[in-house]
Amino acid sequence: MTQAVQTQWDALRALPKPKLTELFAADPDRLSMLSKKLDLAGDGILFDWSKTHLDAAHIDAFLKLSEAAGFAERRAAMFAGEHINTTEDRPVEHTALRGVGKPESVAEAQVFQTRMAELVGAIHKGALGEVKHLIHIGIGGSALGPALAVDALTREGALVDVHVVSNIDGVALEDAFKKCDPHTTMLAIASKTFTTTETMVNGEGAIAWLKENGVADPYGRAVALTASPDKAVQWGIDETRILPFSEGVGGRYSLWSSIGFPIAIAVGWPDFAEFLEGAAKMDVHFRDTDGIDNLPLRAAFADLFYTHLRGTQTRGVFAYDERLKLLPSYLQQLEMESNGKSVTLEGKPVDGPTAPITWGGVGTDAQHAVFQLLHQGTNLVPLDFIAAIAPGDDLDPAHHRILLSNCFGQGAALMAGKTSPDNPARFYPGDRPSATILLDELTPGTLGALIAFHEHRTFANGIILGINSFDQFGVELGKEMAKAIEKGGEKFDPSTTALLAAAGIKA
Ligand code: F6P
Repeated sequence: MTQAVQTQWDALRALPKPKLTELFAADPDRLSMLSKKLDLAGDGILFDWSKTHLDAAHIDAFLKLSEAAGFAERRAAMFAGEHINTTEDRPVEHTALRGVGKPESVAEAQVFQTRMAELVGAIHKGALGEVKHLIHIGIGGSALGPALAVDALTREGALVDVHVVSNIDGVALEDAFKKCDPHTTMLAIASKTFTTTETMVNGEGAIAWLKENGVADPYGRAVALTASPDKAVQWGIDETRILPFSEGVGGRYSLWSSIGFPIAIAVGWPDFAEFLEGAAKMDVHFRDTDGIDNLPLRAAFADLFYTHLRGTQTRGVFAYDERLKLLPSYLQQLEMESNGKSVTLEGKPVDGPTAPITWGGVGTDAQHAVFQLLHQGTNLVPLDFIAAIAPGDDLDPAHHRILLSNCFGQGAALMAGKTSPDNPARFYPGDRPSATILLDELTPGTLGALIAFHEHRTFANGIILGINSFDQFGVELGKEMAKAIEKGGEKFDPSTTALLAAAGIKA
């Protein structure tokens, strides 16, 4: 940590920390400062951070901190296509997939996109025979984003029925087989590296299933989504069905690339294009907005307030929208794989906490399961609530009103708390923070903007923490151990050796 950054953290620590109710009482303009709607041509998103402990003094100090950490320079470097992923010596180019970034990268992304749009269009027109189902095989960033977007956007029906399979547990693959007719099924093998064990083994399993069920040319039914087209050719997929993307697109940032093929197949190209446009609007907002009006940066300030100034270890995300039930697991990878680091950009140990543990669920289900702890437990957990004003159902509007009332009621209760002089068990401490993201409507465009907001929030956190948000070496060691166990011939600790023996696996 540089001296300038250290000085700003010290200044932040020294500031008075009023309660949320005191903050509202002291500043009548609090809402206009911390609740802001971003218009996305018709459908907007309201970002309300007023129930967090950010106040004018903290915002001012966080702005100075972000300046000391080089926020504007690193943001500009990302959009310029500089190699800000220093450990892997790569640029960070997911925004170019949305048309915002270095012109050469945007142009390359558009060439890849045109190719993808043509293949999607051809499949929809029946050029590859009847396609009723798509089994999308990938893991991590090659699965979580597509699964979220397909689930969120196809409640009214899909052009092609998509099943995302990630786990190496064969049960997951068999579940998909049970729901698909092999003669009208295509496979999408999604892997940036085209080496990931789970994806390769599941891919082979799916090819074998097609063959066993009488499909004459099973590899002819597969599409590869990858940044390693040569490996996909070696695997057996014809070049005409390989949809490439650039090395500068990180796995957890790749749903905008050909990894988003199942989304486009399920919802159609116009909706996929709208999804990209929604994200692009957030890119432009993040790139061009300075100060506290920059929504992802503001969210990062609140995130850092709680981890660094309040010692919180987790952050909860509760979607009051069934269609967003996969959002917490998507955000877990985005935030924890990006910022769960212990060394700085210079390779030195970090001075404080990095990413908190992201967890969450769906409201109102979660209210009847985990909210007891959130209201009265000893852990402080800053929360995000996410909801849409327009219902996703056709029932009596009263139904949706109850959902929204619950969402807003939780935030209000967490902040207000309740005294209980006669019965300590009924005491609510209050002063518990939450932010609310309120979509006018869940559409491809607002979903794109919502995801891009979280990408930039993660990056903004990483810049201020002085870490590289774009590598993921932490996942390697476990993979190596699993491979060594499988291969056999290596010695392990007594506990692992005994587990292997109990499972009948020869070490
Ligand atoms: O194991 C971590 C990881 O590298 C993720 O970052 C990535 O999203 C996932 O594996 C899948 O990688 P690939 O797309 O190369 O198969």
